[in-house]
Amino acid sequence: MENIVISIGGSVILSKDIDVQYYKKFAKLIEKFSKDYKIYIIVGGGKPARKYIQLGRKLGLNEKTLDDFGIIITRINAKLLTNIINTSNTKIPTTTNKAIKMRNKIIIMGGTTPGHSTDYVGSELASKTKSEKFIIATNVDGVYDKDPNKNNDAKQIKEITPEKLIKKYGISWKSAGSNVVIDGPALKEIQNNEILTYVLNGKKLAELEKVLQDKKFNGTVIKK
Ligand code: UTP
Repeated sequence: MENIVISIGGSVILSKDIDVQYYKKFAKLIEKFSKDYKIYIIVGGGKPARKYIQLGRKLGLNEKTLDDFGIIITRINAKLLTNIINTSNTKIPTTTNKAIKMRNKIIIMGGTTPGHSTDYVGSELASKTKSEKFIIATNVDGVYDKDPNKNNDAKQIKEITPEKLIKKYGISWKSAGSNVVIDGPALKEIQNNEILTYVLNGKKLAELEKVLQDKKFNGTVIKK
């Protein structure tokens, strides 16, 4: 059975309003596709992670501690999803190796170690499991030429190579809570292992479904 890895942003899972229907639909969609694929879901930290990191930074805590705050929040978000998605794991694995050893058809986890975001964890899982697809479900419709949350004239990019993204964003981890479209360590992993990566808006479940069905979707493909 093929593997699929989905990295879903904390901002997608925990947005301003609590949309119960969204969680139900997301759970249903994942359960449906778990008949065809083994699915790994890595959940981000979103706003609560950034709030703790901001507070800790103001209090003078070191970067590793701040990353640890973020990791704990990602695991709480993962815990939320394991409770609403049937046949998923109940214990949240703390490393990708532990996740791979789990027998559930759907495995949900958060962060692992300091120094990167959950997108990196997803890319590591995608390369270790030789996943058919690595999907980054974020809060915008894919990769843009500039931040679409700040620039009205930002243009969506349909397809791009990892090399071009690395040229623009680099491969290093900037700091705890950094909010870039894909973090540097993940880009490096995507490039080194030629991981076929799809970036889409995780709030738009129809787009996620299209990628799972190999249909044309609204978002960005990252490939060589
Ligand atoms: P996220 O992956 O959520 O980063 O991890 P993000 O960029 O805020 O993504 P969204 O908003 O969820 O889409 C939150 C923070 O937790 C730490 C990092 O500091 C990161 O910025 N973290 C996360 C780690 O240090 N290691 C991990 O494996 C995961």
